[in-house]
Amino acid sequence: MKIIKEISEMHEYTAKLKKRGHSTGFVPTMGALHEGHLSLVDRASAENNKIIVSIFVNPTQFGPGEDFDKYPRPLKKDLKMLKETRKVDCVFTPDRDMMYPPGAASYVTLENEMANVLCGASRPGHFKGVTTVVAELLNIVKPDRLYLGQKDAQQALILSKMIKDLHYNTEAVICPIVREKDGLALSSRNAYLTPEQRDTAPILYKSLQMAESMVELGERSAETIKKEIRRKIKESGVEIDYVEIAGTEDLAPAEIIAGNVLIAAAIFVGKTRLIDNTIIKI
Ligand code: PAF
Repeated sequence: MKIIKEISEMHEYTAKLKKRGHSTGFVPTMGALHEGHLSLVDRASAENNKIIVSIFVNPTQFGPGEDFDKYPRPLKKDLKMLKETRKVDCVFTPDRDMMYPPGAASYVTLENEMANVLCGASRPGHFKGVTTVVAELLNIVKPDRLYLGQKDAQQALILSKMIKDLHYNTEAVICPIVREKDGLALSSRNAYLTPEQRDTAPILYKSLQMAESMVELGERSAETIKKEIRRKIKESGVEIDYVEIAGTEDLAPAEIIAGNVLIAAAIFVGKTRLIDNTIIKI
């Protein structure tokens, strides 16, 4: 497994892969890897013959007062984990000055409501940071396929749209959420939870499961479902950031459950912000 830090070396490496006719699958990460990331590597490895993973904690997607400084950076452990999969050919680990050289002033933004709702409403500027860094990474890695997790559903939709709008020659592949036995979606931020908070955290998934059951039983009012989700989460004493139901194409608020809708929620367990979602297809 090759570890590359320099952008110029990465350009050379990917040019070589292209010349030799390899297909490349790319998994961008911020490190602190878990089984969710490894499931993306597995899928990428089933569909491509060369796999590239990036590890870069992207400063521009964290707002003031968010957890950029304390975000876990267990690089050695991450590299060991990736090596043990025997599926990763190259790990790209650029530093901040490489991705954002002093004086850099160009950003990629999605100029519609998709970036301003759900997580975008609570984390202003977050998706501008995500689209900018992923645009940079796609320019550097030039993969055939980009692997993203459904857990960050809004991120996956926004990046798929960016890829389409800007004509990247890359296919976005969105992979299922990986969960703990009790339903908690895997996230690098779960590591912040105290044992007591960890016991409470599955309320997020349980409330989404309840919403799925309500739809199965015939409920079609988005407002009624959101109200019930909020009630269930509040019962456990956890603070709600948002509970939203939106169309899966444009993330516009849905009033009625019809077609494909995303039910998404974010909560604060202590100071830790957790997100989860489910897609309902009727
Ligand atoms: O999902 C993440 O870990 C990040 O948002 C990403 C896509 C690696 C961009 O920094």
